[in-house]
Amino acid sequence: MDVTEEGGALGYTAYANLDFARSVVRHFVALVGFERDDLAILDIGSGTGDSARAILETLSSLDHWKGVVSLLEPDTESLRIAENNLAGQPVLTHRGSAENCFSFSEQSFDVSIWSNGIHYLESQASLMTALRAIRHATRRKFVAWSTFFKEAYCGKTTRFAGLWVAKAYELLGVNRTERVRSNNLQVRGQADYEAAFREAGFSRVRSALQIFELGPEVYRGIAMFQDYAERALPAMPGRPDLTIEKRSRALVEAVEPIYHLLGASTLPRYWLYMEAEP
Ligand SMILES: C[S@@+](CC[C@H](N)C(=O)[O-])C[C@H]1O[C@@H](n2cnc3c(N)ncnc32)[C@H](O)[C@@H]1O
Repeated sequence: MDVTEEGGALGYTAYANLDFARSVVRHFVALVGFERDDLAILDIGSGTGDSARAILETLSSLDHWKGVVSLLEPDTESLRIAENNLAGQPVLTHRGSAENCFSFSEQSFDVSIWSNGIHYLESQASLMTALRAIRHATRRKFVAWSTFFKEAYCGKTTRFAGLWVAKAYELLGVNRTERVRSNNLQVRGQADYEAAFREAGFSRVRSALQIFELGPEVYRGIAMFQDYAERALPAMPGRPDLTIEKRSRALVEAVEPIYHLLGASTLPRYWLYMEAEP
């Protein structure tokens, strides 16, 4: 396939629809430890509703649970899809960001969950504002997990990351002088997040690293996140022809050859799980 052709639609859906993505979310939702009195749940950065679906599945297994899951999401289109996907379920939707949690009354939610998204807060100031706002809106527990953090790579994944980007550039026919340095959202580590939670006033802060094995389809899905592709292969001033769709497509096409080169059918990667009390 010519990677300079336009690829599939960019977005989170290709990844979110994978069995792998669903099993990771279910794995962490099972760790939350819901109680029967947890009637108001906040799903921060709900996207198109995958984390909310897993939360609802778990809560509906509690005897006579009659609560509501509130979805908070800044992207209007994702929220619209979530509303369709969860039609008929006990959900409320709110358009907004984690930083807007101050607009909810104090302790509005028994449990707040941020699945696969806390890394989007790039600056320390926005992270601190969001954490303080979440603490304000939460009664019992805040839980978050993400794989975009400093210690995420392990084993052959450490080599994979660099080789993957280099292969994508090669497929695009971009020479070394044209390349713009990649960056990722892995700026904070486990200790940085724990410190930020404490600084925001949370107590009983706990965190754990959990390892998952990722097949090539997982990185193909990740390559289709627009923001991921933008960071991994930033726009090159001298190559306006290389649109984000083409750069994402090159990342998609580069996955398989690098798994092959590394002799791997899966590659290990850590997720960071954190929980705290307001
Ligand atoms: C990778 S998706 C995760 C979706 C879902 N929670 C899951 O685990 O499947 C991350 C979501 O976070 C949203 N997001 C980005 N910045 C945010 C912020 N500051 N506050 C809340 N959500 C944010 C994005 O729009 C996106 O829908």
